[in-house]
Amino acid sequence: MKKIAVIPGDGIGNEVTGGAVTILQKAQLELYNTILFDFKYFDWGSEYYLTHGLMMPEDAINQLEFFDSILLGAIGHPDVPDHVTLNGLLLPIRRIFDQYVSVRPSYLWKNTTSVLRDVKDLDFVIIRENSEGEYANIGGFLHLNNENSTSIQTAVFTKNGCMRIIDYAFQYAVERNKKLKVTSITKSNAQAYGMVMWDNCFNEVSKKYPQIETESLLVDAACMDLVRRPESFDVIVASNLFGDILSDLGAGITGGMGVAPSSNINPYKKVPSMFEPVHGSAPDISGKGIANPIASILSGAMMAAYLGYAELEMVIRKAVQQSIENNITTQDMGGKHSTEEVIISVEYNITK
Ligand code: NAD
Ligand code: IPM
Ligand code: MN
Repeated sequence: MKKIAVIPGDGIGNEVTGGAVTILQKAQLELYNTILFDFKYFDWGSEYYLTHGLMMPEDAINQLEFFDSILLGAIGHPDVPDHVTLNGLLLPIRRIFDQYVSVRPSYLWKNTTSVLRDVKDLDFVIIRENSEGEYANIGGFLHLNNENSTSIQTAVFTKNGCMRIIDYAFQYAVERNKKLKVTSITKSNAQAYGMVMWDNCFNEVSKKYPQIETESLLVDAACMDLVRRPESFDVIVASNLFGDILSDLGAGITGGMGVAPSSNINPYKKVPSMFEPVHGSAPDISGKGIANPIASILSGAMMAAYLGYAELEMVIRKAVQQSIENNITTQDMGGKHSTEEVIISVEYNITK
C-alpha cells in the first residue's frame, strides 16, 4: 500500500484535488480490484496560516517524510502575501526533499484546439530545474527604511545541479523515444556566469547521448519559437524560473492551465516526490465550481506511474480523452460543465 499525503491547499486546490483522489480510487479498483493507495488529508495552507500563523506545522517535513508521495492542490490566498504562503509550504517542500526535477508535459488533447492557428500535434515536455537557480532563496534586505533601501536576490547554479537536471532531460528524451531531441533554454548572453556554466554542462552531457539531437536557445527567442514552431519541440530543459514561465506558455498553447499537470521529483526515491497541477489557486474562479479538474487528475495519474503503476496512468489518460471527446468539459475548454460533472464523467469512462 502506498501512503499518499494529500494537501488540497487554497482556492481551487480544494475543488480539484478530491477529483484526482476519486479517479485514482476508481482506477485502482477497475484495474487491480484492490486498494493500492492510502490517502491522508492535511488541512495545511493559507486558512491554516490565518489561524496558526504558519502555513504548515513545524514538524510538517517530519510528518511528510513517511509518505510515498504528496498530492498537492495549489497555494495562494488573496489575504496573505504570496511570498509568505509559497515560502511557507510549496517551496520548502520542494527544496528540503531535493525534488530537483519538475516534469511539465504540454500535450494538445484530441478534439481540442490550440489558440495557435493550424497547429495540430503538440506534445512536448519541459524538464524544469526545481531546486536552485533563481529560486535558491539566497539574499536579503539592507537599510530597509531609508533612502539606501537595498535588496539582494542571488541565483545559484551549481555544476552538480546543472549536470543532474540536464542528464535527466536526456534520459527522458531517450525513454520517451519520440523526436529524440533536447532543447536547452538559457539566457547566457546576459547571465554570463550561471547560465554559461549551464551551457557548458549541456555540451558535456550531450556527448553521452549521440543519438539525441540538441538545440540551445536563448529564452527570448525560445518564447517566439514556441509560438512560431511549437511542433518542433520534444524535450526542453530550463532553469527554475525559465522552466516556470515556459510551462505556462506551454499550457497556454495546448489548452490552458486547466489541463497542465506537473511533478516535483527526487529520482532517488528515498524521500517523497510531489505531484500538482501547474496552475495556482485561481482566486478569480474559486468557489464557483467551474475549475477544470483535469490538470489535477493528470497529476494524480503521473503520481501513479511514478509509484510503479504506469498502467493506471494510461487508463486515466484514456478516460480523460473520452470525456473531452464527449464534450464534457469546463468553460476554460469551451464547455459548460462543472468541476464535479467532469470528475464524474472521467470516473465513468474508466474501464480496463
Ligand atoms: P493561476 O494559475 O491560479 O490562474 C491563472 C489563470 O488561469 C486564471 O485566469 C485562472 O482562472 C485560470 N485557471 C487556472 N487553473 C484553472 C483551472 N483548473 N480551470 C480553469 N481555469 C484555471 O495563476 P495566478 O492567478 O497567477 O495565481 C493565483 C495564486 O496562485 C497566486 O497566489 C499565485 O502565487 C498562486 N500560484 C500557486 C501555484 C501552486 O501552488 N503551485 C502555482 C501558480 C500560482
Ligand atoms: C509553479 C508556481 C510556483 C513556482 C510559484 C507559486 C512559487 O508558479 O509551480 O509553477 O513558480 O514554482
Ligand atoms: Mn508557475
